[in-house]
Amino acid sequence: ENNDSRDIDYSFKLVIIGDSTVGKSSIRSRFTKNEFCQSMPSTHGFKNDYKIVDIDSKVVKAEIWDTAGQDQYRGILPSFYRGVKGALVVFDITNRESFKNLSKWIRELKLMGDSLLSVLLIGNKNDLENERKVPQEEAKIYAQKNQLLYMETSALTAENVDKAFQDVLTDIL
Ligand code: GTP
Ligand code: MG
Repeated sequence: ENNDSRDIDYSFKLVIIGDSTVGKSSIRSRFTKNEFCQSMPSTHGFKNDYKIVDIDSKVVKAEIWDTAGQDQYRGILPSFYRGVKGALVVFDITNRESFKNLSKWIRELKLMGDSLLSVLLIGNKNDLENERKVPQEEAKIYAQKNQLLYMETSALTAENVDKAFQDVLTDIL
């Protein structure tokens, strides 16, 4: 899709944030390239990619900005968040710490981003149901309290990955 030559109606910047190893880069590459890598290297600084998608009969360029979950690798924040229209805030359903740290990411997003952002909370790695540490109900309640939509994805099986982007882009449009 990346050599799609149609005229673009809208271009939207989206960010993917959350702790290290939750699967941010894996979600990005599943969405933009339909690829999954078992040994995805940890992101240093940030990485961009894009995909052109159809949303409500409009041609939309989704620019995906993916940053490092680890503090020591994080670049200059203002440029990362500048002009952002939507965000995927990701935790790993098998990693309770990544769920606990969501408030930190949401706080940063509110501080650095526009107040009218479309934000989706993502519980990733839902293919690992037998290792689940965060009950779906608890995540749903947390999302409700923070007025966020909640969705569970798997970058490995691709479950809900397109849908997550579709939903956030539809909300922006
Ligand atoms: P940082 O760049 O360090 O912030 O991490 P990240 O959030 O980008 O995580 P990354 O995409 O690098 O994934 C970390 C590890 O989890 C990799 O080994 C992936 O293969 C694995 N992984 C990512 N998503 C999934 C998933 O949905 N299911 C399973 N089983 N593994 C996944
Ligand atoms: Mg990464």
